[in-house]
Amino acid sequence: MLRLTPGGVRRHHQGSGKALANVVNHEKQREGREDALDVLLTLVGGDLKRVNEIIVERMHSPIALIPQLAGHIIAAGGKRLRPLLTLASARLCGYEGERHAQLAACVEFIHTATLLHDDVVDESLLRRGRDSANALWGNKASVLVGDFLFSRSFELMVEDGVLKVLGILSHASRVIAEGEVAQLITANDMATTEAQYLEVIRGKTAQLFAAACRIGAVVAERPEAEEEALDTYGMTLGIAFQLVDDYLDYSARQQDLGKTVGDDFMDGKITLPVILAYQRGTDDERAFWRRCMEAQDMAEPEKDLAKAIELMTRYGTLAETVERARHYGERARSALDIFADGPAKAALAGIVDFCIERAR
Ligand code: IPE
Ligand code: IPE
Ligand code: MG
Ligand code: MG
Repeated sequence: MLRLTPGGVRRHHQGSGKALANVVNHEKQREGREDALDVLLTLVGGDLKRVNEIIVERMHSPIALIPQLAGHIIAAGGKRLRPLLTLASARLCGYEGERHAQLAACVEFIHTATLLHDDVVDESLLRRGRDSANALWGNKASVLVGDFLFSRSFELMVEDGVLKVLGILSHASRVIAEGEVAQLITANDMATTEAQYLEVIRGKTAQLFAAACRIGAVVAERPEAEEEALDTYGMTLGIAFQLVDDYLDYSARQQDLGKTVGDDFMDGKITLPVILAYQRGTDDERAFWRRCMEAQDMAEPEKDLAKAIELMTRYGTLAETVERARHYGERARSALDIFADGPAKAALAGIVDFCIERAR
């Protein structure tokens, strides 16, 4: 299905600078929960505006489908969490130059590219509260525009001109790809262990958080110990973030999540709440999990999903997934200990709460 002008797309990306201004007001999806993000936005809002300008400038291409499709997902918003982490980390490290904005844009391009590819792989129809790009334009266009965004991110890194940054972000891109492939291998396999699951989420999600944060110390030319601390903060925060995301896949209301709830179950994606429920289940329950997740033999998928949620609730595995996220969140918070107290440190600590509170 190749639709070059799906409804609404023009409206959203025309006069793109202005459209993007709306994007970053981070609509209050659920009242009271975005406070920490607001604190961060107050701190680096000016920088984020610059990041969004760069994103809009650099998603352009003479091939009209590219800005159309990229504009659709970019103008849909998203939290801009990873670029915000780069900006806040740079601020924490006392950076006063301008390189961080371009690198933060680069981080968001990498993230957006992975989302385009991920929605093809996961056959997801909803992203950021809208039809996914693959639902509107098909898989081929999504994959190719994802490649464009990846390539654009590398151009931005080369323009920055510092090999160390190029090293960090190209490493992260490679590890994300490995994480997604590793996940493909564990899909539909109930023998997947917690350790394998953790490796997958470290790769597909946490590595980019780590890189986004580390870059803040690199642009500020801070000592290795501070780079490492920010890397650890990002890595553990990213793990917590994905744990909560995997919890939300079973627990959220679709309109809050902006993605289809229950997708992981329908795809046979093996996440922590499922692994724990399988470990604790009776023989019959384990057969149920294998039928659904491995054989994908579901005559009444909604009924099976309801039973899965009932089992995960009975064994407390959804709550335990959030508990585990809290644990990684604590590790993220302590990684900031080596930095002097101040608004940037407080904002980054607040982001830990924001990521965990998504589960409420
Ligand atoms: C989505 O990330 C992909 C995951 C790692 C779960 P976000 O939830 O940060 O996506 P946006 O950018 O805000 O849409
Ligand atoms: C997110 O994976 C990680 C990447 C996009 C690389 P998921 O498949 O779990 O995230 P959602 O649920 O689609 O956002
Ligand atoms: Mg997905
Ligand atoms: Mg998910």
